Amino acid sequence: MRTKSAEVYRKACAVILGGVNSPVRSFRHLRMEPLIAESGEGDLLRDVDGNTYIDYCCSWGSLLLGHAHPQVVKGVCNQMGRGSSFGVTTEIEERLASKIVCHFPAVEKLRFVNSGTEATMTAMRLARGYTGRPKIVKFTGHYHGHNDALLVQAGSGVASLNPLATSKGINPSAIADTVCFPFNDFQKIRSFFTESPWANQVAGVILEPVTGNMGVVPPEPGFLEMLREETSRIGALLIFDEVITGFRVGLTGAQGLYQIEPDLTCLGKVIGGGFPVAAVGGKSSILDCLAPLGQVYQAGTLSGNPVAMRAGWETLCLIEEQGFYERLKKKMERMTAPIEEALQRKKANACLQQAGSMFSLFFGLRKVRCKEDLKALDEEKFIQFFQYLFERGIYISPSSHEACFLSSAHLDKHIDDTVDCIVNFIEKFL
Ligand SMILES: Cc1ncc(COP(=O)(O)O)c(C=O)c1O
Repeated sequence: MRTKSAEVYRKACAVILGGVNSPVRSFRHLRMEPLIAESGEGDLLRDVDGNTYIDYCCSWGSLLLGHAHPQVVKGVCNQMGRGSSFGVTTEIEERLASKIVCHFPAVEKLRFVNSGTEATMTAMRLARGYTGRPKIVKFTGHYHGHNDALLVQAGSGVASLNPLATSKGINPSAIADTVCFPFNDFQKIRSFFTESPWANQVAGVILEPVTGNMGVVPPEPGFLEMLREETSRIGALLIFDEVITGFRVGLTGAQGLYQIEPDLTCLGKVIGGGFPVAAVGGKSSILDCLAPLGQVYQAGTLSGNPVAMRAGWETLCLIEEQGFYERLKKKMERMTAPIEEALQRKKANACLQQAGSMFSLFFGLRKVRCKEDLKALDEEKFIQFFQYLFERGIYISPSSHEACFLSSAHLDKHIDDTVDCIVNFIEKFL
């Protein structure tokens, strides 16, 4: 029963367009009424009707510790009691920044912003300001927030908008300098770098090193290395958008996992512990181009907000604890191994892809390397899968183009129940 949820949604639709403040929350593509959350605790999310769901969306990957971790709640309440915003620097900003700098050797300095969108926008502006060049290279199916210049062939919610995965309302001039390539396609990008007269006009190459916004798609061996080599050779900046993968695939992000040092790094989600925090960081020589030291402008009234910083800081303190990622890895194996087995047993035309504690099930495909592969994706099967789980109290990310996430709060018992449900689905419907 979701009577109250329907009522809240109806009222919300009257005053908030589409009833939501971010499109994918509407569940329209699932032909369902949306989830209306009331509270969360650990790995459980409760809706306004009192139904509980084991949550594998985790606020789109932000909640690495699950909902309402007591230490994060305590820290945030403590900070709130001392004032929520001052519009000047606070000590907690330095403390959170120092933690990030300590774990990301490629980040010598950073600036905090309020969303991943702002982080990638600033990274692009910095790349252009630093190099004096106009062009940005991106990959199809990668989503970097809703910046005009990057809403070209994008993933995430944009992918369900239209076949070109782009948005109306963007001036052609805003995307004239955006160049797109398929992810993991060595040949296309290499020939662009070596043969195109535009190659020396490239300010930066931005990518999700492990893609989360077309489902989880890891880089093919050598792909990130090739990008590092080619960008250095042509004098362009390599920009890793680690808004999802930062602190998610490991303490040192995808760059630590694959041992590649980008020039600029965008972070978000986990570093805010459930609050709107993101950051752009990198080598001092590049970051120093930002105002007030340099002439690339960027600012924000609530940037570095102390309450949000405290949530991020408490979160990072907890995930730095010895064995945190090993325990998370074990939980992930508990989840994925039996699903993989069931897929093989059934010889199902589907696959599971994962990196760290993020994973996706693709229906209608045995491997996904790039967005172009997703043409064969069985969207109807995904909708059936989502509904099957939802009716049984399991909430996965509500889109076939998004990753699902595990948190340290996921109980083994809940993981086992979820696995049973997924294996049943595979046996019955694939
Ligand atoms: C990789 C990546 N970059 C950037 C963004 C944009 O972040 P935000 O929604 O905080 O603007 C997202 C959002 O999901 C993302 O996944």
